[in-house]
Amino acid sequence: MYHKSSRMSTGQRLMCPILGIASCIAFIYVSFSDLSFGDYHAEQKMDFVRRNGTHLVVDDGKMFYVNGWNSYWLMDQAVDEYSRPRVRAMFQTGSKMGMTVCRAWAFNDGDYNALQISPGRFDERVFRALDYVIAEARRHEIRLLFSLVNNLEAYGGKTQYVKWAWEEGIGLSLSNDSFFYDPSIRQYFKDYVKVILTRKNTITGVEYRNDPTIFGWELINEPRCMTDNSGDTLQDWIVEMSAYVKSIDKNHLLTVGLEGFYGPNSPKKPTVNPGEYFSLLGSDFIRNSEIQNIDFASAHIYPDHWFKNQDFEEELKYVALWTRSHIDDGDRILRKPIMFTEFGYSTLNKDFDPSKRDRFFKTIYDVIYKSAKKQGAGAGSFVWQFWVGGMEKYNDDFGIVPWERPETYKLITQHSCRMARIRGSAELKGNLKELCSQ
Ligand SMILES: *[C@@H]1O[C@H](CO)[C@@H](O)[C@H](O)[C@H]1NC(C)=O
Ligand SMILES: *[C@@H]1O[C@H](CO)[C@@H](O)[C@H](O)[C@H]1NC(C)=O
Repeated sequence: MYHKSSRMSTGQRLMCPILGIASCIAFIYVSFSDLSFGDYHAEQKMDFVRRNGTHLVVDDGKMFYVNGWNSYWLMDQAVDEYSRPRVRAMFQTGSKMGMTVCRAWAFNDGDYNALQISPGRFDERVFRALDYVIAEARRHEIRLLFSLVNNLEAYGGKTQYVKWAWEEGIGLSLSNDSFFYDPSIRQYFKDYVKVILTRKNTITGVEYRNDPTIFGWELINEPRCMTDNSGDTLQDWIVEMSAYVKSIDKNHLLTVGLEGFYGPNSPKKPTVNPGEYFSLLGSDFIRNSEIQNIDFASAHIYPDHWFKNQDFEEELKYVALWTRSHIDDGDRILRKPIMFTEFGYSTLNKDFDPSKRDRFFKTIYDVIYKSAKKQGAGAGSFVWQFWVGGMEKYNDDFGIVPWERPETYKLITQHSCRMARIRGSAELKGNLKELCSQ
């Protein structure tokens, strides 16, 4: 998503006293239990999540299903002392809700509090913030899906890379898409990837590539390459970059970061894409996800941005169709797990109501659960997006403070439990054991 907007959904901002007891307790827990964890070395062993056919597996081949969320802002907020507690508060809440993976940005290219100040130059202060995010996630038994660059302009993105190459006098073009085809820019990106993967965490002492707290890497958030709608340019870039990541790090899962549209030659273009336009963005869900070094396929779900004024019941039908279609591709064509790494219901909808958002979430959750239960390729989903109080400017028209609405909190938590129980109640571990064993 864009998350540039500072618009806020004031209608939903409720105060603690009018919430149910459970939410109040959740809030208090978040605020005051900061000191109750041991040191970083005293934790249980954590295993890498891997892929076996259409399933994600962990701990000697046991299936792994994800109820996850997005908090793109974690590194950014961990830089400054005043905002750092938000990172811990977020992990505590996610963990308490039985969520096991969080997706976040592992990049900030040239923006305020940049991690990469200019090509190959890093701000150690910001890198330490990323170290902190990983160490905190580990303490809360949360894994991280990290995205490595943005297609969009927020936090630098491909526009920043193109600008750098131009300023250094080596860029071929000012087109944003030269990010994908300019050899110098490809090298910039590879250099970046190498520094990240081989970074030794200053808190835990573990290199990122050897850290099972990291669930996996995502090459790029929502890639589009509209200057080549044959799709060849983006395809070539994914082939090269996925091989490069794997040449350094064979421990971690890798995904592309696609929105999930079908390309111009896909039989599903007319029936599943939101419209003709979406086949012309230079990506193709099947072709891009088929690449050998891509371990699982990913897609996003944003009908509010893809259609204008869609009727709500129609929207739910479409969402179920879109979700089922991609899982079906995972089962039949790709033979890989599929994760919906972003989905959201916009507060800008003219008849927005949080109970509609709950139904929207439930529709997606139900399709994924149904697939997972019969051991299909539907492996999980990540809400876009969670934030905590005091950081309104990081919100967009999709953000949720998870403890503000008890119905939503309960819906998400129950989904955590049913996904976790698929592998057997005896297998519930850590936070999930207490939360889900009743
Ligand atoms: C992968 O799954 C198959 C079928 O469930 C199983 O027989 C096999 O042992 C698994 N392989 C690994 C490496 O876990
Ligand atoms: C690149 O993308 C940015 C952000 O979308 C846009 O403002 C800019 O005009 C684009 N540059 C070119 C040359 O198209």
